[in-house]
Amino acid sequence: MRKKIVAGNWKMNLTRDQGLLLVEQVLSNLSKQNTQLVFAPNYLSLYKIAKMCNNYENVKVAAQNCSKDLKGAFTGEVSAEMVASCSADYVIIGHSERRTEFNETNAVLAEKVNRALEHDLKVIFCCGESLPQRKEKAHFDWVKQQLLESVFHLSLVQIKEIVIAYEPIWAIGTGKTASLAQAQEMHAFIRNLLAEKYGEQIAVNSSILYGGSCKPSNAKDLFAQKDIDGGLIGGASLNAKDFLAIIKAF
Ligand code: PGA
Repeated sequence: MRKKIVAGNWKMNLTRDQGLLLVEQVLSNLSKQNTQLVFAPNYLSLYKIAKMCNNYENVKVAAQNCSKDLKGAFTGEVSAEMVASCSADYVIIGHSERRTEFNETNAVLAEKVNRALEHDLKVIFCCGESLPQRKEKAHFDWVKQQLLESVFHLSLVQIKEIVIAYEPIWAIGTGKTASLAQAQEMHAFIRNLLAEKYGEQIAVNSSILYGGSCKPSNAKDLFAQKDIDGGLIGGASLNAKDFLAIIKAF
């Protein structure tokens, strides 16, 4: 059975104290859940939060990014090895904000995926189309291309460490969620791509998350879709009450 996952991508929000408080509030209100919970704070809080989550079997931490390079003279960068040394479990790679704001191409993202896996990190790999692409009906081809160029070079063993997050760019932080049908259709398409490339077994067992204005009021319906295995949550993960409500939406 594939994992159900709810991951909170804090982006560049929350100071260290605010972040620790949020984690405390969420952890102290968790009832026994089968859903895997992931916190993705900034690098500076990663180690502390990983330690706080240590005793919770189904709670993991993720970095929001890592360098494509191993180590060396790259001022300001953080390597996958450094992320792993903070006891993180995951790294988010390919978020649309990284692609647009920091010009990360599919080729660069493929390198980041490789660095992460080399350091035993799992990857939450984001893909998704813009509004003009959807209007031109190019969204399936675009997402396929993103996966082909950044992920589908991986082996049968490696692909098991990847969680794909479908995040239509037009739904991120806009309050506009993809309709249930749009989301389900794309998730089924991605699962089908996995089946074609890696076989049915891998496809059936891979978690595919939805991201883009997922909130307490729509999480239940989204997560009820056949091919949606959870969410990558931005805004609503910054508030314990909302995040807990989403975790409990399964
Ligand atoms: P949002 O962000 O939930 O605020 O739309 C999702 C994301 O960017 O991962």
